[in-house]
Amino acid sequence: MNREITRRDFIKASAAGIAATSLLGTVGAFAEETPKNDDAFKGKKKFAGVKNCRAVTEDIIYVGVSDRRIQLFENVYPIPRGVAYNSYVLLDDKTVLFDTVDRSVTGQFFENLTAVLDGKKLDYLVVNHMEPDHSSAISEVLVRYPEAKVVCTKAASIILNQFFDCDISDRSVIVGEGNTLKVGKHTLTFVMAPMVHWPEVMMTYDDVSGVLFSADAFGSFGALNGNLFADEVNFEQDWLPDARRYYCNIVGKYGKQVQDVLAKAGGVNIRILCPTHGPVWRKNLGWILEKYNLWSSYTPEEKAVMVVYGSVYGGTESAANALAAKISQNGVANVSVYDVSKTHVSELIAEAFRCSHIVLASITYNMGIFTPMKNFLLDLEAHNLQNRCFSFIENGSWSPVSGKLMREIIDRLHNCSVEGKTVTIMSSPANKDTEALTTLAETVSKSVLGNSKPAKEVEAVALKKWVCKICGYVYEGDKVPDDYKCPICGAGASVFVGA
Ligand code: FEO
Repeated sequence: MNREITRRDFIKASAAGIAATSLLGTVGAFAEETPKNDDAFKGKKKFAGVKNCRAVTEDIIYVGVSDRRIQLFENVYPIPRGVAYNSYVLLDDKTVLFDTVDRSVTGQFFENLTAVLDGKKLDYLVVNHMEPDHSSAISEVLVRYPEAKVVCTKAASIILNQFFDCDISDRSVIVGEGNTLKVGKHTLTFVMAPMVHWPEVMMTYDDVSGVLFSADAFGSFGALNGNLFADEVNFEQDWLPDARRYYCNIVGKYGKQVQDVLAKAGGVNIRILCPTHGPVWRKNLGWILEKYNLWSSYTPEEKAVMVVYGSVYGGTESAANALAAKISQNGVANVSVYDVSKTHVSELIAEAFRCSHIVLASITYNMGIFTPMKNFLLDLEAHNLQNRCFSFIENGSWSPVSGKLMREIIDRLHNCSVEGKTVTIMSSPANKDTEALTTLAETVSKSVLGNSKPAKEVEAVALKKWVCKICGYVYEGDKVPDDYKCPICGAGASVFVGA
């Protein structure tokens, strides 16, 4: 099939209106467990054994695809365990597809979709997230299923056209916060989630199953290996590091927006989380929600120390190792040490979100910070890390300045403290440096073990929120300025209402 799709390929179909709007109802707390539902799926023999398809509920089928060939996610993040692009079909009076897949796996995806639809037409494609790892197959879906209408935010429709020259104005259903769509016995409710991870993101809640199609939220790096549900794998042992690395690097900058969505979710009876990457959550939802609460509030997951060093001839490495050993001897467990030149920065970012205390040890290089260390620190700043305790070791053979320069970057982070005095070594650690290293180790250890003042409490700044009625974008401030334009949909100040 020719995949070069142009505007002319799109068969015109009238856009459907949306059912009456209503805010997402408050119907209960998070369910801790949901029943296994594979039995219901097994009864539908026409689906059984078809490619990657598995039942999430009796009428929601997984049609996503895993990719183990990819080396770098977003051409940045190494993913040796691959990644899954999740997509789901709801079979009701109307058929609904939730998101699509990356262009690398469209062959398998259409096999899955064709098998699950089993000759039915597709009525709706819900686009929760427009990033191309989920939207690359939209153009082909629209050609293959000419009656399908696209349900998305206004911002998603704009970005779709930017990426794929794909004008859906004559077959789109533009939705905003709390809009609903009845597709039979199921009613879908749309929840705006701007900046989790892009501005156009929304989530979709199904009232019958309690499924929240959560876009990138609650996702993870890692291909699915037959097991679809998080309770079918040892998630904490085998998946948590990749889930943390995925969250911190992809969404970590937008903690406030994630907190906003978690607050909305807290009032909804969610039984199953269906993210666009990684396993589906149907048990112990509270566990992953708590992880997200910690990560998005920039609260350390553990009282733990990570030591990161940048070293050329081994002197700084030796000092970092000596400090780590002294901290360990003081009774601090699970100290971790990383060579900044050998560890991918995405791993370091994830560890920084996990640990409460971070020791930075760097040589002075071109009268600055060692380049990989500087890159790491600027990435920390870009990801908005907060509420951590930092300590420093600097090295220089004639004019050591890296400690001062590292601290200048750390001082720009919100609510981060500095523990102890910067240890300065000249080329390599000498006996005269032992006392300074021992003192710094004692200071860090006491802080970790709770005998020292923690970082000061996060200052709560309560800003009023104003929601764009068109696209759901949230403006924060005392008042929306008269000349303000929504950065997502371009609407003026008059369409913003107080949240
Ligand atoms: Fe998986 Fe933000 O895309």
